[in-house]
Amino acid sequence: MKGQIIVETEDLTKKYGSRTAVDHLNIKIEEGEVFGFLGPNGAGKTTTLLMFLGLTEPTSGRAKVIGFDPTREPFKVKEKVGYLPENVGFYDDMDARQNLRYIAKLNRISGGVSEKRIDYWLEMVGLSEESTKKVGTFSKGMRQRLGIAEVLIKEPKLVFLDEPTIGLDPDGTNRMLDLIHSLSREKNITLFLSSHLLDQVQRICDRVGIMINGNLVAIGPIDELAKKKLGLGKEDYTLEEIYMKYFKEA
Ligand SMILES: Nc1ncnc2c1ncn2[C@@H]1O[C@H](COP(=O)(O)OP(=O)(O)OP(=O)(O)O)[C@@H](O)[C@H]1O
Ligand SMILES: [Mg+2]
Repeated sequence: MKGQIIVETEDLTKKYGSRTAVDHLNIKIEEGEVFGFLGPNGAGKTTTLLMFLGLTEPTSGRAKVIGFDPTREPFKVKEKVGYLPENVGFYDDMDARQNLRYIAKLNRISGGVSEKRIDYWLEMVGLSEESTKKVGTFSKGMRQRLGIAEVLIKEPKLVFLDEPTIGLDPDGTNRMLDLIHSLSREKNITLFLSSHLLDQVQRICDRVGIMINGNLVAIGPIDELAKKKLGLGKEDYTLEEIYMKYFKEA
Protein backbone atom coordinates (compact mmCIF):
# COMPACT_ATOMS: atom_id res chain seq x y z
CA MET A 1 0.00 0.00 0.00
CA LYS A 2 1.23 3.48 -0.77
CA GLY A 3 -1.21 6.17 0.31
CA GLN A 4 -2.28 7.50 3.70
CA ILE A 5 -4.31 5.18 5.88
CA ILE A 6 -7.79 6.60 6.48
CA VAL A 7 -9.42 3.69 8.35
CA GLU A 8 -7.56 1.33 10.61
CA THR A 9 -8.70 -1.26 13.12
CA GLU A 10 -7.01 -3.26 15.83
CA ASP A 11 -8.71 -6.49 16.85
CA LEU A 12 -12.08 -4.80 16.45
CA THR A 13 -14.71 -7.10 17.96
CA LYS A 14 -18.46 -6.91 18.46
CA LYS A 15 -20.48 -9.48 20.35
CA TYR A 16 -24.24 -9.60 20.63
CA GLY A 17 -24.79 -11.83 23.65
CA SER A 18 -22.86 -15.02 22.97
CA ARG A 19 -22.76 -14.39 19.23
CA THR A 20 -19.62 -12.76 17.78
CA ALA A 21 -20.71 -10.55 14.87
CA VAL A 22 -17.21 -9.17 14.20
CA ASP A 23 -14.21 -11.14 15.43
CA HIS A 24 -10.83 -9.43 15.92
CA LEU A 25 -10.94 -7.48 12.68
CA ASN A 26 -7.67 -5.95 11.50
CA ILE A 27 -8.04 -3.87 8.37
CA LYS A 28 -6.40 -0.85 6.76
CA ILE A 29 -8.09 1.32 4.14
CA GLU A 30 -6.08 3.69 2.01
CA GLU A 31 -7.11 7.23 1.19
CA GLY A 32 -8.75 7.53 -2.24
CA GLU A 33 -9.35 3.85 -2.84
CA VAL A 34 -12.63 2.14 -3.69
CA PHE A 35 -12.89 -0.77 -1.28
CA GLY A 36 -15.49 -3.52 -1.58
CA PHE A 37 -16.60 -5.20 1.63
CA LEU A 38 -18.08 -8.58 0.79
CA GLY A 39 -19.59 -11.48 2.63
CA PRO A 40 -22.78 -13.48 3.06
CA ASN A 41 -25.84 -12.27 4.97
CA GLY A 42 -25.06 -11.95 8.65
CA ALA A 43 -21.26 -11.89 8.11
CA GLY A 44 -20.83 -8.69 10.13
CA LYS A 45 -20.49 -6.05 7.40
CA THR A 46 -23.14 -3.63 8.64
CA THR A 47 -22.01 -4.13 12.24
CA THR A 48 -18.49 -3.12 11.18
CA LEU A 49 -19.78 0.00 9.41
CA LEU A 50 -21.80 0.95 12.49
CA MET A 51 -18.66 0.72 14.62
CA PHE A 52 -16.73 2.87 12.11
CA LEU A 53 -19.41 5.54 12.50
CA GLY A 54 -19.66 5.40 16.28
CA LEU A 55 -23.25 4.16 15.97
CA THR A 56 -22.51 1.02 17.94
CA GLU A 57 -19.71 0.38 20.43
CA PRO A 58 -17.14 -2.36 19.98
CA THR A 59 -17.04 -5.04 22.67
CA SER A 60 -13.24 -4.92 22.45
CA GLY A 61 -10.50 -3.64 20.16
CA ARG A 62 -10.60 -0.30 18.43
CA ALA A 63 -11.08 1.58 15.20
CA LYS A 64 -9.48 4.76 13.92
CA VAL A 65 -11.40 6.62 11.26
CA ILE A 66 -9.88 9.77 9.69
CA GLY A 67 -7.61 9.85 12.72
CA PHE A 68 -10.34 9.65 15.37
CA ASP A 69 -11.73 6.94 17.57
CA PRO A 70 -15.43 6.84 16.58
CA THR A 71 -16.47 5.68 20.05
CA ARG A 72 -14.81 8.63 21.75
CA GLU A 73 -15.23 11.33 19.13
CA PRO A 74 -18.26 10.40 17.04
CA PHE A 75 -18.94 14.00 16.00
CA LYS A 76 -15.45 14.49 14.57
CA VAL A 77 -16.01 11.39 12.48
CA LYS A 78 -19.54 12.33 11.39
CA GLU A 79 -18.39 15.76 10.25
CA LYS A 80 -16.10 14.34 7.57
CA VAL A 81 -17.59 10.94 6.90
CA GLY A 82 -20.68 10.14 4.83
CA TYR A 83 -22.88 7.09 5.32
CA LEU A 84 -25.54 5.65 3.08
CA PRO A 85 -27.40 3.10 5.21
CA GLU A 86 -29.23 0.01 3.95
CA ASN A 87 -32.54 1.89 4.27
CA VAL A 88 -32.36 5.63 3.88
CA GLY A 89 -34.80 7.79 5.84
CA PHE A 90 -36.15 11.17 4.69
CA TYR A 91 -38.82 13.68 5.55
CA ASP A 92 -41.52 12.32 3.27
CA ASP A 93 -43.70 15.43 3.34
CA MET A 94 -40.83 17.60 2.11
CA ASP A 95 -39.55 17.62 -1.46
CA ALA A 96 -36.09 16.47 -2.56
CA ARG A 97 -34.59 19.95 -2.47
CA GLN A 98 -36.03 20.70 0.97
CA ASN A 99 -34.58 17.47 2.30
CA LEU A 100 -31.14 18.38 0.96
CA ARG A 101 -31.43 21.91 2.36
CA TYR A 102 -32.24 20.47 5.74
CA ILE A 103 -29.14 18.24 5.67
CA ALA A 104 -26.99 21.14 4.45
CA LYS A 105 -28.19 23.23 7.35
CA LEU A 106 -27.49 20.45 9.85
CA ASN A 107 -23.97 20.36 8.46
CA ARG A 108 -23.67 24.13 8.80
CA ILE A 109 -23.18 24.70 5.07
CA SER A 110 -24.01 28.31 4.28
CA GLY A 111 -27.07 29.17 2.14
CA GLY A 112 -25.26 30.24 -1.05
CA VAL A 113 -22.89 27.29 -1.07
CA SER A 114 -25.65 24.86 -0.23
CA GLU A 115 -27.96 25.92 -3.12
CA LYS A 116 -25.10 25.43 -5.60
CA ARG A 117 -24.22 22.05 -4.15
CA ILE A 118 -27.87 20.98 -4.12
CA ASP A 119 -28.23 21.83 -7.84
CA TYR A 120 -24.99 20.03 -8.60
CA TRP A 121 -25.78 16.82 -6.73
CA LEU A 122 -29.41 16.66 -7.88
CA GLU A 123 -28.05 16.78 -11.43
CA MET A 124 -25.32 14.21 -10.71
CA VAL A 125 -27.79 11.66 -9.36
CA GLY A 126 -30.37 12.41 -12.06
CA LEU A 127 -33.05 13.99 -9.88
CA SER A 128 -33.12 17.59 -11.17
CA GLU A 129 -36.53 17.09 -12.76
CA GLU A 130 -38.07 15.65 -9.59
CA SER A 131 -36.58 18.13 -7.14
CA THR A 132 -39.94 19.65 -6.18
CA LYS A 133 -41.79 16.37 -5.70
CA LYS A 134 -42.57 15.20 -2.19
CA VAL A 135 -40.14 12.46 -1.25
CA GLY A 136 -43.04 10.36 0.08
CA THR A 137 -44.05 9.81 -3.57
CA PHE A 138 -40.56 8.70 -4.66
CA SER A 139 -39.85 5.22 -5.98
CA LYS A 140 -37.22 3.08 -4.24
CA GLY A 141 -34.56 3.96 -6.81
CA MET A 142 -35.32 7.67 -6.54
CA ARG A 143 -34.94 7.48 -2.76
CA GLN A 144 -31.62 5.69 -3.22
CA ARG A 145 -30.39 8.45 -5.56
CA LEU A 146 -31.49 11.14 -3.13
CA GLY A 147 -29.67 9.25 -0.38
CA ILE A 148 -26.43 9.50 -2.34
CA ALA A 149 -26.96 13.22 -2.96
CA GLU A 150 -27.57 13.67 0.76
CA VAL A 151 -24.32 11.86 1.63
CA LEU A 152 -22.26 13.89 -0.84
CA ILE A 153 -23.66 17.32 -0.09
CA LYS A 154 -21.29 17.77 2.84
CA GLU A 155 -18.35 16.75 0.60
CA PRO A 156 -17.02 14.02 2.87
CA LYS A 157 -13.46 12.66 2.67
CA LEU A 158 -14.67 9.14 3.26
CA VAL A 159 -17.98 7.52 2.40
CA PHE A 160 -19.46 4.26 3.62
CA LEU A 161 -22.09 2.86 1.31
CA ASP A 162 -24.23 -0.12 2.32
CA GLU A 163 -25.52 -1.66 -0.93
CA PRO A 164 -25.45 1.60 -2.97
CA THR A 165 -27.06 0.26 -6.15
CA ILE A 166 -29.90 -1.70 -4.56
CA GLY A 167 -33.15 -0.71 -6.23
CA LEU A 168 -31.55 1.24 -9.06
CA ASP A 169 -32.49 0.55 -12.66
CA PRO A 170 -29.68 -0.43 -15.10
CA ASP A 171 -29.04 3.16 -16.20
CA GLY A 172 -29.11 4.37 -12.60
CA THR A 173 -26.70 1.57 -11.63
CA ASN A 174 -24.25 2.53 -14.36
CA ARG A 175 -24.39 6.17 -13.38
CA MET A 176 -23.87 5.29 -9.73
CA LEU A 177 -20.85 3.10 -10.48
CA ASP A 178 -19.31 5.80 -12.69
CA LEU A 179 -19.99 8.38 -10.00
CA ILE A 180 -18.35 6.24 -7.29
CA HIS A 181 -15.32 5.69 -9.48
CA SER A 182 -14.98 9.36 -10.40
CA LEU A 183 -15.29 10.47 -6.75
CA SER A 184 -12.27 8.32 -6.00
CA ARG A 185 -10.21 9.29 -9.03
CA GLU A 186 -11.09 12.98 -9.40
CA LYS A 187 -11.77 14.04 -5.81
CA ASN A 188 -9.62 11.55 -3.90
CA ILE A 189 -12.64 10.55 -1.82
CA THR A 190 -12.34 7.12 -0.20
CA LEU A 191 -15.29 4.83 -0.87
CA PHE A 192 -15.96 1.83 1.28
CA LEU A 193 -18.92 -0.11 0.01
CA SER A 194 -20.62 -3.27 1.05
CA SER A 195 -22.35 -5.19 -1.71
CA HIS A 196 -23.50 -8.62 -2.84
CA LEU A 197 -23.41 -7.59 -6.51
CA LEU A 198 -20.00 -8.97 -7.32
CA ASP A 199 -19.89 -8.02 -11.00
CA GLN A 200 -20.35 -4.38 -9.99
CA VAL A 201 -17.74 -4.68 -7.24
CA GLN A 202 -15.31 -6.17 -9.75
CA ARG A 203 -15.91 -3.24 -12.08
CA ILE A 204 -15.09 -0.45 -9.65
CA CYS A 205 -13.18 -1.69 -6.61
CA ASP A 206 -9.41 -1.39 -6.20
CA ARG A 207 -9.40 -3.93 -3.39
CA VAL A 208 -11.90 -6.17 -1.69
CA GLY A 209 -12.22 -7.78 1.72
CA ILE A 210 -14.29 -10.91 2.31
CA MET A 211 -15.97 -11.37 5.71
CA ILE A 212 -17.38 -14.72 6.69
CA ASN A 213 -18.87 -15.31 10.14
CA GLY A 214 -17.27 -12.18 11.52
CA ASN A 215 -13.80 -13.10 10.20
CA LEU A 216 -11.95 -11.33 7.43
CA VAL A 217 -10.85 -14.33 5.36
CA ALA A 218 -9.32 -12.43 2.43
CA ILE A 219 -8.19 -8.94 1.55
CA GLY A 220 -6.39 -7.51 -1.46
CA PRO A 221 -6.64 -6.37 -5.06
CA ILE A 222 -8.97 -8.66 -7.02
CA ASP A 223 -6.24 -9.78 -9.45
CA GLU A 224 -4.03 -10.86 -6.55
CA LEU A 225 -6.82 -12.86 -4.95
CA ALA A 226 -7.52 -14.42 -8.35
CA LYS A 227 -3.88 -15.54 -8.69
CA LYS A 228 -3.92 -16.94 -5.19
CA LYS A 229 -7.22 -18.79 -5.44
CA LEU A 230 -7.57 -19.67 -9.12
CA GLY A 231 -3.92 -20.01 -10.11
CA LEU A 232 -1.76 -18.27 -12.69
CA GLY A 233 -2.82 -18.04 -16.30
CA LYS A 234 -6.50 -17.59 -15.62
CA GLU A 235 -7.17 -14.19 -17.11
CA ASP A 236 -10.93 -14.26 -17.47
CA TYR A 237 -11.77 -14.81 -13.80
CA THR A 238 -14.81 -13.38 -12.11
CA LEU A 239 -14.91 -12.08 -8.57
CA GLU A 240 -17.80 -14.46 -8.00
CA GLU A 241 -15.55 -17.48 -8.65
CA ILE A 242 -12.98 -16.17 -6.17
CA TYR A 243 -15.65 -15.36 -3.59
CA MET A 244 -17.26 -18.80 -3.88
CA LYS A 245 -13.89 -20.50 -3.30
CA TYR A 246 -13.38 -18.58 -0.07
CA PHE A 247 -16.99 -19.14 0.92
CA LYS A 248 -16.81 -22.93 0.46
CA GLU A 249 -13.54 -23.20 2.37
CA ALA A 250 -14.78 -21.20 5.37
N1 LIG B 1 -28.73 -5.21 17.04
C1 LIG B 1 -28.41 -6.51 16.99
N2 LIG B 1 -28.70 -7.35 18.01
C2 LIG B 1 -28.37 -8.63 17.98
N3 LIG B 1 -27.73 -9.23 16.96
C3 LIG B 1 -27.42 -8.47 15.92
C4 LIG B 1 -27.73 -7.07 15.87
N4 LIG B 1 -27.27 -6.56 14.70
C5 LIG B 1 -26.70 -7.59 14.06
N5 LIG B 1 -26.77 -8.74 14.77
C6 LIG B 1 -26.22 -10.04 14.38
O1 LIG B 1 -24.86 -9.86 14.03
C7 LIG B 1 -24.52 -10.66 12.90
C8 LIG B 1 -23.96 -9.75 11.80
O2 LIG B 1 -25.01 -8.94 11.26
P1 LIG B 1 -24.77 -7.80 10.18
O3 LIG B 1 -26.01 -7.03 10.07
O4 LIG B 1 -23.53 -7.06 10.54
O5 LIG B 1 -24.51 -8.66 8.88
P2 LIG B 1 -24.25 -8.19 7.36
O6 LIG B 1 -22.93 -8.78 6.96
O7 LIG B 1 -24.42 -6.74 7.24
O8 LIG B 1 -25.39 -8.99 6.59
P3 LIG B 1 -26.28 -8.56 5.30
O9 LIG B 1 -25.47 -8.97 4.10
O10 LIG B 1 -27.49 -9.44 5.45
O11 LIG B 1 -26.60 -7.12 5.37
C9 LIG B 1 -25.79 -11.41 12.54
O12 LIG B 1 -25.72 -12.67 13.15
C10 LIG B 1 -26.89 -10.60 13.15
O13 LIG B 1 -27.99 -11.40 13.49
MG1 LIG C 1 -25.78 -5.54 6.18
